[in-house]
Amino acid sequence: MSAVPITNDATAPQPALVAHDVRKSYPAGKGTVEILHGITMGVSFGEMVAVMGPSGSGKSTLLYCLAGLEDATSGEVTILGIPQSSLSRADRAKLRRSEVGFVFQAYNLIPTLTAYENVALPYLLRRDPIPDDLIRGTLAAVGLGERIEARPTSMSGGEQQRVALARVLAQQPRLVFADEPTGALDTRSGQVVLDELTKIAHQPDRCVVVVTHDPSVAARCDRVVFMRDGLLVDELTRPTIEQVAAALTTLTATKAGS
Ligand SMILES: Nc1ncnc2c1ncn2[C@@H]1O[C@H](COP(=O)(O)OP(=O)(O)O)[C@@H](O)[C@H]1O
Ligand SMILES: [Mg+2]
Repeated sequence: MSAVPITNDATAPQPALVAHDVRKSYPAGKGTVEILHGITMGVSFGEMVAVMGPSGSGKSTLLYCLAGLEDATSGEVTILGIPQSSLSRADRAKLRRSEVGFVFQAYNLIPTLTAYENVALPYLLRRDPIPDDLIRGTLAAVGLGERIEARPTSMSGGEQQRVALARVLAQQPRLVFADEPTGALDTRSGQVVLDELTKIAHQPDRCVVVVTHDPSVAARCDRVVFMRDGLLVDELTRPTIEQVAAALTTLTATKAGS
């Protein structure tokens, strides 16, 4: 496993994100059940990383911990050089609001608001000025330039996911996390979402981590990490679709045999 080395050299480029021995447990009955068993990985600026693995292997839990939506039970997540354990809960939330974007599989749109209003919502909630050009431009970039006045109830799933993506991108976060963002989409919407995520990731001060089941999505990423039973068990750099598919087959075959 070639995680980004953690270095004390102040002149070395800092990775965007470092997870060090991250564990996550949930209460279960009278005790706890550990879901993540010690994950160490890094993500560099300008990098798009896919997380793959069988259902229940802990992909979503890992993403929540990396994004700071969930606190790790132990270990450390360092976002933009700042160990999260060094921050108060309030400061962690502040950092997350300004630097972290999360695209969920469920779109989490407000049905009574238009596409434009849904994308503008974080600005409205903060009482910040609405960057009109940015919001229109972001909606246009995801192919919804003609749909800005539409409400989610009149949109396809693919269109709704693109609104949800636009809402994240219009915040211009440096770290973008996406949990199966193309899982439920038609091919065209999936392509648009993937293109936009790739564009974001390849900016020098940004990165993207995406959970996916789709080898063709993973093959568009710079690196793919594979999870099984709460651990990272394999990693590929710029793989082909066939290499991803083969790694997945090995992963599930070993699981069945173990
Ligand atoms: N809030 C929670 N409380 C208890 N168990 C959870 C919670 N969230 C997830 N789990 C369990 O953790 C395991 C991994 O879940 P998840 O991270 O959603 O996996 P994946 O995204 O790979 O399908 C599953 O067994 C799931 O039931
Ligand atoms: Mg999941």
